[in-house]
Amino acid sequence: MPTTLSDKHLQGFLGSDEYVGIAPAVKAAHEALHSGKGLGNDFIGWLNLPTDYDKDEFARIKVAAEKIKSNSDIFVVIGIGGSYLGARAAIEFIKSPNYNALCKDTPQIYYTGNSISSNALAELLEICEGKDVSINMISKSGTTTEPAIAFRVFREMLEKKYGKDGAKDRIFCTTDKARGTLKQLADREGYETFVVPDDVGGRYSVLTAVGLLPIAVSGADIDALMQGARDAQDKFADPDLDKNDCYKYAAIRNMLYNKGKTTEILVSYEPAFTLMNEWFKQLYGESEGKDQKGIFPASVIFSTDLHSMGQYIQDGRRNLFETVVLFDSVQREIKLGTDPENVDGLNFLSGKTMEFVNRKAFEGTVLAHNDGGVPNVVLTVDKMDEYNLGYLIYFFEKACAISGYILGVNPFNQPGVESYKKNMFALLGKPGYEDQKAALEARLK
Ligand code: PA5
Repeated sequence: MPTTLSDKHLQGFLGSDEYVGIAPAVKAAHEALHSGKGLGNDFIGWLNLPTDYDKDEFARIKVAAEKIKSNSDIFVVIGIGGSYLGARAAIEFIKSPNYNALCKDTPQIYYTGNSISSNALAELLEICEGKDVSINMISKSGTTTEPAIAFRVFREMLEKKYGKDGAKDRIFCTTDKARGTLKQLADREGYETFVVPDDVGGRYSVLTAVGLLPIAVSGADIDALMQGARDAQDKFADPDLDKNDCYKYAAIRNMLYNKGKTTEILVSYEPAFTLMNEWFKQLYGESEGKDQKGIFPASVIFSTDLHSMGQYIQDGRRNLFETVVLFDSVQREIKLGTDPENVDGLNFLSGKTMEFVNRKAFEGTVLAHNDGGVPNVVLTVDKMDEYNLGYLIYFFEKACAISGYILGVNPFNQPGVESYKKNMFALLGKPGYEDQKAALEARLK
């Protein structure tokens, strides 16, 4: 099974009656989601996306990826939030965080438009000097400031380098199918466009062109990715809590939250999972953190962070639970040799694999954290490949929706994200925000 849940390390924290108690809420959440009558029901296109997606566009994504691979040394992905994290997380998970150093027949991939740092943007422009570059501007709304600024800079750079016509061939836009300034601009300039479906919100969009084009450019197999998601869609359609690990995870989160476990730490023992942690935090934080409710999603990579956050987790405020993502097998194995002099005292590990040591680190940690009062959910995934990633992505997306419904929030909107934008626009002097500007400036004095 590509992703399975173990509640073994929840013993002593949750009783079997509690599962019975929450089952009706899970059933109601399932019905709300599948009937399309729940909160935010105009954003549930991701639910059937693995089976119900635009096959022509999928083919076009593969063609565009081949073109980019054949004519580019560097591919720049411009986007923020849901228009950025999924693609990067998938590429680092499937390929490596060191993808750019290792890639041979595919372009290096860089990400921009995910901050307003001029240092970061200037550095990337420098990296691109003397290289053949293509870009993918990704923005559902087409108006998000961070990627819009980076896009303006990169368009100018490409037009200077290749001329308007040449640049046209290297600019790919992923946006709304009909609305928004990006769509208008792309149509006017003749850029190839891909669609973020109306009914799929940013953080649920990694299996649309938003994620698929960059993932395909990295040389990863997007057919296998979608197959994994399809199998998960099928597997996690069962309304029975006992038979559905995805629903069990959603239920456990809510049961722990109701007992004061208000922070969830997603844990992996694989550094290549770091960006998946970020993707997860966006998905759950933006979906559940509203109406003064919601679990705060945090993340760590072990054993790295056992030497930093490990102290807090073992011994700090007891409002935590951990969700550990383990992998059954590793792609590359290292076996430890024997040192005749045993200078480092490590001969007790001779002949053992690093994966074995990593597993013992997990086993020791989960028991220590349990002893420290931290419940652990354990998700086991077969391995780090496209198929298992598609499966895991769908698992987390569906669990997030069900969990949000159990919590009683709309898991598909993000009203809180607008507040900083309004203030920033006012302070920057954007037309239409004149009244707020003076009031905000007075508060900053
Ligand atoms: O999940 C979301 O909806 C957000 O994180 C968006 O993806 C993010 O704000 C970027 O929006 P857009 O794609 O419109 O530029």
